[in-house]
Amino acid sequence: MDKVNNADHATLTLPGSNRSAQLKLLSGTLGPQVADIRKLQSDLGIFTFDPGYGETASCESKITYIDGDAGVLLYRGYPIEQLAEKSTFLEVAYLLMYGELPTSAEFETFSTGITRHTMLHEQIRRFWEGFRRDAHPMAVLCGVVGAMSAFYPESVNINDPREREISAYRLIAKIPTITAWAYKYSVGQPFMYPRNDLSYAENFLYMMNAVPPESYRKNPILERAMDLIMILHADHEQNASTSTVRLAGSTGANPFACIASGIAALWGPAHGGANEAVLKMLEEIGDKSKIPAFIAEVKDKNSHTKLMGFGHRVYKNFDPRAKIMQRTCYEVLGELGVKDPLLDLAIELEKIALNDDYFVSRKLYPNVDFYSGIILKAMGFPTTMFTPLFAMARTTGWISQWMEMIEDPLQRIGRPRQLYTGAPQRDYVEMAAR
Ligand code: SDX
Repeated sequence: MDKVNNADHATLTLPGSNRSAQLKLLSGTLGPQVADIRKLQSDLGIFTFDPGYGETASCESKITYIDGDAGVLLYRGYPIEQLAEKSTFLEVAYLLMYGELPTSAEFETFSTGITRHTMLHEQIRRFWEGFRRDAHPMAVLCGVVGAMSAFYPESVNINDPREREISAYRLIAKIPTITAWAYKYSVGQPFMYPRNDLSYAENFLYMMNAVPPESYRKNPILERAMDLIMILHADHEQNASTSTVRLAGSTGANPFACIASGIAALWGPAHGGANEAVLKMLEEIGDKSKIPAFIAEVKDKNSHTKLMGFGHRVYKNFDPRAKIMQRTCYEVLGELGVKDPLLDLAIELEKIALNDDYFVSRKLYPNVDFYSGIILKAMGFPTTMFTPLFAMARTTGWISQWMEMIEDPLQRIGRPRQLYTGAPQRDYVEMAAR
């Protein structure tokens, strides 16, 4: 098929026929144009083919912009580096939801609203009793968040903007409580109720680390590190879990069910489960002398071994979050006085990989997950809590994307097609004749 580009159209002509389709080229604020293919089947009787949607714009969005070649990440136009340095997670949550940085009055109203929704319905506590103590916390998050619509039925009318906003507040406010309680349950300690006198990050750390017999001592280093890690994980365009939330939301499912579907998708080791997998990989390598053998195993396709924390569907340059994470790694471990040989191992592994043509030629660079596990380990989190922390932060991005989708006039139920390569039509054969 030959294509001719003119000012704002591309023409697609089928070989051996005079049928052609004019594909309107749509331009955004930043990034490549998109070819509007919505009439392709009616004009030419064909579909496009894009397994994994790597070359497909599934929606129009104003929330996050990524330039994978330049290593750029913007939340509502603001560079991640500036937000990481100057903002707080709750301010970023407001920005992602409403599109602008809040005035002090707007922020006061927002943060008070979030603070006032951090408690869970007391019946939900009994949910945990159904789980084994060794249940993966992501299983608990999936189950509890998915069930929330049963406990807050008065705010699931997705056509009511006020109910959508209340559900968004409830999810952003309660996900730290659910995440912390998933941890407490796994170690057999009593749940700690949220406190309204603590910041969002400190409240989470309190619910994670406080115990009834002792008074709780704040740790500003951990609070700042937690807040920063959540900013870096808050949103990331149309990644697999966000696309899952949008697809679930396009059916009219309630917001709690949609966020639970995002949690399920994030769990995979190719996505949010990678931070846990990076630490396991570093622990398996053990020491620097084993790095060459591991790299050789990664290059052997039959091993199916991946260099976890490396590579990205979009970034073909450094993930800007990884750079901030690496710097934070040094700061947090230094301030905590933690010497972790895994950090030295990670630095050496990164250095070797970035000088190895196998990785350079495939544009494989460290992503957000490569260093996050080392920081989280230094902060005292067990590896099973790494992905739940990612889900806790990404809940804000998911719910912002969900709200944008519901308000999008172009939005309709998501329904991809396929290239069918199965059996042609055939008649049923009785078993005796097979
Ligand atoms: C996240 O999408 C997002 O935005 C996600 C995320 C977010 O914030 O939401 O950024 C969070 O999920 C980060 C990614 C975390 N995952 C990992 O670190 C797991 C390890 N990475 C890989 O599984 C992989 O890189 C993916 C899944 C991230 C991307 O997969 P792609 O798009 O299929 O990779 P590619 O097309 O760039 O691969 C090109 C080549 C292939 O080899 P060839 O067929 O050309 O020989 O590179 C190879 C791949 O096999 N390759 C790797 C590799 N990643 C890709 N080889 C070894 N180790 C790796 N990590």
